[in-house]
Amino acid sequence: MKKTIAIALLLASAAQADAPAPDGETLLAPFKRDLKAALVEGMQLGPANAIDVCRLEAPALAAEHSKEGVRIGRSSHRLRNPANSGPVWVREAIAAWLEDPQDRAPRTVSLDAGREGYVEPILTQPLCLACHGSSLDPAVAEALAAHYPNDEATGFEAGDLRGAAWVEYRTGSETAD
Ligand code: HEC
Repeated sequence: MKKTIAIALLLASAAQADAPAPDGETLLAPFKRDLKAALVEGMQLGPANAIDVCRLEAPALAAEHSKEGVRIGRSSHRLRNPANSGPVWVREAIAAWLEDPQDRAPRTVSLDAGREGYVEPILTQPLCLACHGSSLDPAVAEALAAHYPNDEATGFEAGDLRGAAWVEYRTGSETAD
């Protein structure tokens, strides 16, 4: 029995040593996938109902995917929820994309203490306009106003830069703490 545990531990640590350095795009993918699925499912009951998906599930999913030194979030230059402002390096990337509309390239940024950040632009899609566009259904506008008195995230058009999805993680060279 003891021997089995020792071997299992050995295999586990070998697997860890061989694990490739994390990359931001891979770390972000499951969060984006789960959020999109939740939104599409929520929208089947109409946008007024789907607001709760974004309001409650988006932060819950970000928290769920933020573990073991990984932090995930969404940000924007026009925030709906001020709590989503995100780290400075993310806001800098958004500012650079706004400055140059030809540049929508994701960025990898070196951070302090053996950490790295990866950020990619989020573009407005037709699906988003029900809650981020110019003409909102009155029930949607009312629900948004109730939860987000300082909402700056309406008036977008399809194709506009809506914000960014970002992740912070330890680089492979740093030992886990
Ligand atoms: C059903 C309404 C609804 C739809 C549709 C919707 N959103 Fe949102 N969105 C919200 C709400 C509500 C929040 C605030 C979430 C929170 O409190 O964290 C939000 C927040 C965000 C944020 C975080 C930054 C901020 O402003 O707080 C981004 C980025 C975003 N939405 C992008 C999108 C994109 C891209 C789409 C289309 C694929 C989309 N949204 C579709 C309601 C919606």
